[in-house]
Parts: sequence; C-alpha cells; structure tokens
Amino acid sequence: MSEVYQVAVLPGDGIGPEVMVEARKVLDRISEKFSLTFQFTEKLVGGAALDDCGHPLPEDTVKACEAADAILFGSVGGPKWETLPADLQPERGALLPLRKHFGLFANLRPAICFPALTHASPVKEERIAGGFDVLCVRELTGGLYFGQPKCIETRDGEEVAIDTMVYSRSEIVRIARVAFLAAQKRGGRLTSIDKANVLQNGILWRRTVEEVAKEFPDVTLSHLYVDNAAMQLIARPRDFDVVLAENLFGDILTDEASQIAGSMGMLASASVGDGTGVYEPIHGSAHDITGKGLANPMASVLSAALLLDISFGMKQESLDVINAVDAVLKAGFRT
Ligand code: IPM
Ligand code: MN
Repeated sequence: MSEVYQVAVLPGDGIGPEVMVEARKVLDRISEKFSLTFQFTEKLVGGAALDDCGHPLPEDTVKACEAADAILFGSVGGPKWETLPADLQPERGALLPLRKHFGLFANLRPAICFPALTHASPVKEERIAGGFDVLCVRELTGGLYFGQPKCIETRDGEEVAIDTMVYSRSEIVRIARVAFLAAQKRGGRLTSIDKANVLQNGILWRRTVEEVAKEFPDVTLSHLYVDNAAMQLIARPRDFDVVLAENLFGDILTDEASQIAGSMGMLASASVGDGTGVYEPIHGSAHDITGKGLANPMASVLSAALLLDISFGMKQESLDVINAVDAVLKAGFRT
C-alpha cells in the first residue's frame, strides 16, 4: 500500500470550520487525481475547545497534531471568549502555544495578486499590474509575542503593562537563512525590515542579517525601517520579492500585503521550523460573517496548497491547486 499522509485538521472558530470544509474538498480531489491517501484527524481548538472541555488547546488536540505529518488550521477567537483570562483566550491559549510547541519559528506568507483581481486591490492598478508577488518571511516564536517579562503590574500606585522584545543572535540567524534560501529560489532579492534607528533589537537584527548575507552572495540584500517599509509596500509594491521581518512587524506588514493583493481573505500561510508544520489562512475568525456563506475559502485552499508543497514535497499537486484557484477567479467566481 502506498504511503498514508496524516493531516491533523483544526477548524477552530467563526468562519474557520466553513472555509476548512472547502479546503478538505480540494484535498479530496487531489487525492483522487493523484491516487494519494490523506488521513484526516479533526480536533477542536480555540473557543470551540474551550466550550467543550474548558481549554483552548486540549491535550488530545496536541497529541493528534504530534501524530500528524502536517496540521491544517482554520481560525480561532471571537467575541464570546475575549473577556476570559489571557491564557484561556483562543489566540493566546491555543494558537501561540501551538506555534511554540512545535518550534515553528518561520512563518511564510506569500502575498500574490492574482491577475483577475488587480482591480480589487486598493492600490492603483498600474502599480500592481504585471504582478504583485511577495513572500513575507515572518519570525514567529520570538520578539514581543513571547519575550519575558510580560505582565501588567502596579508601580507607584499605577498599573503598567510590560512586554519584552528580545531576540538572540541565533534566532535571527535561523530566520534570516530561511528568507535568503527563499530569495535564492525566487527573484534573488531580500528586503530586511527593522527599526535600527530606535531599537537595540534593530541594531542586532541588521548586523546579523548582514553577516548571514555573506553565505548568500547571489541574493541582493536591502534594509528598510519598518515605518518606511509600510509606505514603500504601497508606493512600489512590485519592487519587493522576499520581505524578512521579526514577529510583530511581520504580523502588521502581512496584513498590509494581503490588502494590496486584494483581500485578507486570500492570504495563506505556512508555519514551519523544528516540528510539524501548521498551515492556516492569515485571516481571523470573522464572526460577523460566520455561517452566512460569505467567507472566502481561498486562503484556506491556498494553505492546503502550501501544505502539499512544503510538508509533503508535492510540487505538482500544490501547483494544481493554485492553478485551480486562478481558473476559478478567471471564470469570474467571487464571494
Ligand atoms: C496572525 C494573527 C495572530 C498573530 C493572532 C491571532 C494571535 O494575527 O496569525 O497574524 O498575531 O500572530
Ligand atoms: Mn495577524
């Protein structure tokens, strides 16, 4: 019997379950077409898990993910759980620990404007016509998201909030290598984002990325301060090839990149590193449109394409999914 590919499926909350249904259909079609066997194990995560057993990332879900070859994730969170203690909230209690648990330090977010959708971008058509195609490489397990101390405490009779931005050299080296390798396979250009004019983190980031650049003489490296990058992405989107950023800057810039590409509903992501990869749309749970048949499943479908490519090495299968999305858009189908 041929190999069975194990996929843990975590639909989550809001529109997560409905977009996941569509991604599953696409994977089923791929398995028929290429005679492959995917075995799906569906588990609760986020608010759905909280409601079921009192924890947003149950042990049972983690075990299923550990046993899988790849994890397909929907979305988590929603108004119902927003006022819970921080570590019980779906985002902080499920998504971030999942990333940390599997050591998924590299988040790859391809922002591509499909030709049929150039008019949907808020950026003038002539600025993206002929191709907006950027790969954002976001550091995912460090920086302000995880640095300690992280708390709200009382100082001099007043509440103060503390988040710590901390990066070690080795953390920067490993994410920079991911970005350089990706640039080598694409257009050979890498833009590294930092705030070296203000943050100590920026100084170490820039210096380290420059050192790593020596391993990749065929890649042209440039640096932008994050505020300037936010502007340049809109002003000259086609000039970017691979963008490298730390966790929070990458979070912000990828929302911007998704909008340039037409809509947040279309951007997929792959979180990879030491353990099992997680593939998920960059959009959230969108409770305002949940259950109305309005959610765009594209990001989820494209996340499945990334899963095929990166975790299973199925290049052609992955390309088929991307081409199918392109064909559906060209045929005029919209949500
Ligand atoms: C994302 C999301 C998450 C993040 C949230 C939901 C914690 O915005 O994947 O971009 O900030 O990383
Ligand atoms: Mn985000």
